[in-house]
Amino acid sequence: MQIHLYDHAEQVGQAAATLIAAQVISKPDSVLGLATGSTPIPTYQALIKMYRDGVLDFSKVRTFNLDEYCKLPIDHECSYHSFMREQLFDHINLPLDHTRVPNGNAENLQEEGANYDMAISRAGGIDIQVLGIGRNGHIGFNEPANAFVYGCHVVNLTQSTIEANRRFFDSEDDVPRQAISLGIGSIMNARKVLLLATGEDKAQAIRDAIYGDINPKTQASILRTHPDVIFLLDKAAAGLL
Ligand code: F6R
Repeated sequence: MQIHLYDHAEQVGQAAATLIAAQVISKPDSVLGLATGSTPIPTYQALIKMYRDGVLDFSKVRTFNLDEYCKLPIDHECSYHSFMREQLFDHINLPLDHTRVPNGNAENLQEEGANYDMAISRAGGIDIQVLGIGRNGHIGFNEPANAFVYGCHVVNLTQSTIEANRRFFDSEDDVPRQAISLGIGSIMNARKVLLLATGEDKAQAIRDAIYGDINPKTQASILRTHPDVIFLLDKAAAGLL
């Protein structure tokens, strides 16, 4: 496990984008595991810049996102489908049919989860997985629990996550209560994992993930058993280390 510290969130983004760029340059048909939320935005901006500068070609890349809200229309401004188009997909030469985000509106969500895991396997597995971390230590939407769940599954969001994500919606009542998320098994199967954390409100979760017990109460703690994981942190997120 490697831990890299940076002064600012922008530098975390530059570092993550550099590692993703190296992956895409060395394997043009790489499979990227992508996250939404505020944390990876500087990473996506840096990747867009590298594409515009002619350094990166995404035409053969395939992507799988970590998660999506349940029962939120795909074209809703707060859906993760919309987020990915706005923050990345619409600005690079990645064919939209090479991208996948779980379908939180599928009639049978269990089947959707199984199909999603299968699609990742058929694509050859994830080469590099980008993760943020919740204030409660969640990765993807794997919330604190009594067990780690292996496959893509439906989760009930905790109050902490609902409050954290409320900032994107008109009111707390509008935040969906359920999501479909890649499981810990699929995340751990990625060949390389980048965990990004910026800001003081992540400091406790980062401390628990790095120094606490490896325990599903802090889902990110399992990453310490991954053979190739890199934590990219700004000073504020590393403040309790
Ligand atoms: C997003 C995801 C979540 C976020 C986490 C942090 O796809 O899976 O685990 O990474 O909630 O969100 P931000 O970056 O908004 O603080």
